[in-house]
Amino acid sequence: MKNLINKINENLDKFLPVVYPEDIFKAMKYTLMLPGKRLRPIMCIETSRLLGGSEDDVMPSACAIEMLHVQSLIHDDLPCMDNDDFRRGKPSNHKVFGEANSVLAGDALLTMAPQIIIENSKNLSDTQIVKIIHEYTKFAGAYGLIAGQVVDIESEGGKLVKSAEKTLEFIHLNKTAVLFRLAVRIGAISANASEDELKTFDEFGKKFGLAFQIYDDIMDEISSFEELGKTIGKDKISGKLTYVSLYGLDNAKQKFNSLLDDCYDIIEKYNSLIFNEILDKLRNRINEA
Ligand code: IPE
Ligand code: IPE
Ligand code: MG
Ligand code: MG
Ligand code: MG
Repeated sequence: MKNLINKINENLDKFLPVVYPEDIFKAMKYTLMLPGKRLRPIMCIETSRLLGGSEDDVMPSACAIEMLHVQSLIHDDLPCMDNDDFRRGKPSNHKVFGEANSVLAGDALLTMAPQIIIENSKNLSDTQIVKIIHEYTKFAGAYGLIAGQVVDIESEGGKLVKSAEKTLEFIHLNKTAVLFRLAVRIGAISANASEDELKTFDEFGKKFGLAFQIYDDIMDEISSFEELGKTIGKDKISGKLTYVSLYGLDNAKQKFNSLLDDCYDIIEKYNSLIFNEILDKLRNRINEA
């Protein structure tokens, strides 16, 4: 996994040279190149590999998904959103570059990501590229990530339009699971997967994404700045609707474990060391606590 992370980092660096006006490229690169876990590009590349695709062919798309993810982090930390001063162990983007450039850096990452896919996916067919860009635009926008973020913000402090259970699931499926679905779906499309395979991986991405956001909710409660690289305890202070706030810590852990069981079951037949390592890491961390 370390080698793969190094390759992803080299490609992220290569796809984003700093040119005039340097301020915007530096702001984009700052959060992008800090040591994130790179889970989404890893899962995109691994899905493609398991389905017979080539790592080089999927690399531009994998890097694009990390750019989209980083855009969501930069904007998520803004004072008008979660107002977080730290990200990936360092001051968050707006603390270093100011709010205006931080908004623009997010916009620039969001739009550069599909540009990178189109310009660098030399071995993918036009049909594959159109499918990938369609998935990207659908999941990144108001039918996906943005929908999740809007309802996350509007539900702060107990303000609810629908039932809390339904609202919480909507938030987590959209603000988080869609990016994991996008990652594995693009991996599958790059490998010319069948509809059945696409469905299997989509289900994996959805369950994993939901589990991952519950993991993040739990970690906000039990972890430390040193481990997470972000200010902890913020969800409670902001009155966020999370699995921990709605169901309590123990029930959140149970829900996480049951979703992870489903993930192990779905992926078992592929014998993937990488997927098993990711699932094991999350499970061990939650169950040691
Ligand atoms: C943080 O994602 C945002 C959530 C969806 C919880 P990660 O925990 O994957 O963040 P990085 O990429 O490792 O910084
Ligand atoms: C994660 O939500 C989803 C996005 C960043 C889009 P959080 O607000 O819980 O993520 P962290 O905890 O700030 O990383
Ligand atoms: Mg948030
Ligand atoms: Mg946040
Ligand atoms: Mg969080």
